[in-house]
Amino acid sequence: MSVQFIENKNLFILSCAKLSCAFYVDANKRLVHLHFGGKVLGEEGLVPQEIRKGHSSFSPWADGEKPEDSADALPLEFSGFNTGDFRINSATVLTENGSAATDALYVSHHIYKGKKRLAGLPSAFAGDHDSVETLEITMRDTACELEFILSYSVFEECNTIVRSVKAVNNTASPLVIRRLMSAQLDLPHTGFDFVQLSGSWSRERHPERTPLHSGIQSIRSVRGASGHQNSPAIALAAHDATEYSGDVYGAVLAYSGNFLIEAECEQYGTARLCAGINPENFSWMLAPGESFETPEVYLTYSGEGLGGMSRNLHDFMRSHLIRDGWADRKRPLLVNSWEAAYFDFDSVKLLGIAESAAKLGIEMLVLDDGWFGARNDDTTSLGDWFVNTDKIGDLGELVKKINALGVKFGLWFEPEMISEKSKLYQEHPEWVLHEPGRRRSIGRQQMLLDMSRPDVVQYLFETISNILHSANIEYVKWDMNRNLTEVYSDMLPPERQGEVAHRFMLGVYRLHEMLLKEFPGLLIEGCSGGGGRFDAGMLGYVPQIWCSDDTDAMERILIQLGTSYFYPVSTIGAHVSVCPNHITGRSTPFATRGNIALSGTFGYELDLTKLTEEDQALVRKQVADYHRYHHIIAGGDLYRLSDSFKVNPFDAWMYVSKDRKEALVTAVCRFCQPNSGVRFVRPRGLDPETVYEVDGMQVSGATLMSVGFQAKLEPGDGASRIYYLKAL
Ligand code: GLA
Repeated sequence: MSVQFIENKNLFILSCAKLSCAFYVDANKRLVHLHFGGKVLGEEGLVPQEIRKGHSSFSPWADGEKPEDSADALPLEFSGFNTGDFRINSATVLTENGSAATDALYVSHHIYKGKKRLAGLPSAFAGDHDSVETLEITMRDTACELEFILSYSVFEECNTIVRSVKAVNNTASPLVIRRLMSAQLDLPHTGFDFVQLSGSWSRERHPERTPLHSGIQSIRSVRGASGHQNSPAIALAAHDATEYSGDVYGAVLAYSGNFLIEAECEQYGTARLCAGINPENFSWMLAPGESFETPEVYLTYSGEGLGGMSRNLHDFMRSHLIRDGWADRKRPLLVNSWEAAYFDFDSVKLLGIAESAAKLGIEMLVLDDGWFGARNDDTTSLGDWFVNTDKIGDLGELVKKINALGVKFGLWFEPEMISEKSKLYQEHPEWVLHEPGRRRSIGRQQMLLDMSRPDVVQYLFETISNILHSANIEYVKWDMNRNLTEVYSDMLPPERQGEVAHRFMLGVYRLHEMLLKEFPGLLIEGCSGGGGRFDAGMLGYVPQIWCSDDTDAMERILIQLGTSYFYPVSTIGAHVSVCPNHITGRSTPFATRGNIALSGTFGYELDLTKLTEEDQALVRKQVADYHRYHHIIAGGDLYRLSDSFKVNPFDAWMYVSKDRKEALVTAVCRFCQPNSGVRFVRPRGLDPETVYEVDGMQVSGATLMSVGFQAKLEPGDGASRIYYLKAL
């Protein structure tokens, strides 16, 4: 049983293999938090006599309750606003009289097997044979019939608890939600580092670690997308936690729009974490009888450091978030036309690339930007999802010829966008997201469609479906090359404009759902100028996301390892491109570009017809490596072996198959330094008792993990090797 209710103590215990969470209903009906972290055995000790941390008259208490009952001084599962808890909170809801006071108390609970899916939002799922249990707790406001249903789904094997909140307006008047966070977590002290992924376009998701300080530390987005700048996921790591040991708490928000994750160190020495939709300029009108659901948060804990946290999240997302078994299924090994041709292609060039692909064992050609409307550069045609027949002839015919070579076909779209120079704009200028009377912001010569409008979503569904029905298209790359501005919709009244950014996201998710229903086997790759929307929300629909427009292998080390803190390697879009690299100008050995791209979905982003004989031989080897090692990389456990928080001269990471019979170590020398000593790689996660063969030696797992083995790399910047370890 992963959810227990101990009735005589009003105590809830949620149990995973290595994680326990406990809270109870106190005499005043507050949901008081007790524990989230390492496994507890039994219930004794879980309801301390005195869990209040301190108090003063500045931490008020409800009339009729005792001073020690102050909501400001209790660890709580859910906090309101303007009613005595002054910390960052779960919910602020405006009632008709203009009051924002919100305060909810326990009413009832319900435990059931499995997990419900959220309507219209990405959601984790439980398979028929999974031991998942869900606890739903109903809380009611102390002044009106506003209810909050807190949901906790316990994924035992993955040490992950999925949380979300639903607000239900059972009053007779409309209410306005100003803030509704998906989860609140009170931790008993502040001795944590805040670990986040931050960056910029082409420099996404570099991990950063800073100690929590008094006050609030947060990451957020108001871009209408999760953004390149921060990914909606954080870890709180005990100061002494390392990659391999120590207490680490992970929180991943399954949402792709404006988000907020914040941690507050408060006056009584505890830390509170809140994660959810960014309340900044958010409001949601809830009519009587209506409800509103927040996105989900995936909360995990590991006593095995940051690496343990990552492995929990990888297991969880691979089994319970990524749809249709795609997580560890082999993806078609592809070549993408973007860096090969940009806008400059025709059917002859594409067929040439497809022929080379067929010879080299590459399984799919993805035609990127430039195939539609009159698009020969980035100034026109977004929204005109009609084939540019002058450029590529009949798409169905082209795809047939490509398929006849034994090569599959994929196609790029940027559904949410519209160019001013487009037929669509001439017909529907009102479909652009814009604010009447204010000048528009342009990004990459393009504007956004108002995805909050059902007619826009329907138009996109029909035009994209027409293309997908017209040819054998097995893969779609879904791009999004700018962020939202002038977020305002003609369709909504002034008092509902705070809903537009979230409704935009709901429109995007809806379009995904409609397309996947129409084309069930379709593989969609997410993208937003590279990794500008790499989040667990998108992963609910797309099994892989183009990780960065920066394809430089040396740059990719940090980007990919950073991404791996929260997201499985099998979701990381990674390709081999040409040198000098188009973004950094750096040159890296072809073999290394392959070795690094293998730590991702793997593919090529170059003109295959221009490869030298030598590089073609390397491609053949890389293709073979992909097939040989895919199951270990996509389905195994990841161990980062070097310090992924900084640029190192030498980096290493590894994957261990779940049965610990195989492992793969990647070792890379970023900068070659003379006389820099012997480079030992110390594998992790092996079976100590098993003897492994590695680099011609036979060594026990115990020795390998204690002593390591020497990484023998050729001299030169960017030299790398992959070591395969096989149990004997
Ligand atoms: C974005 C993507 C690229 C490519 C271009 C096309 O930048 O990240 O991979 O698809 O758009 O315009």
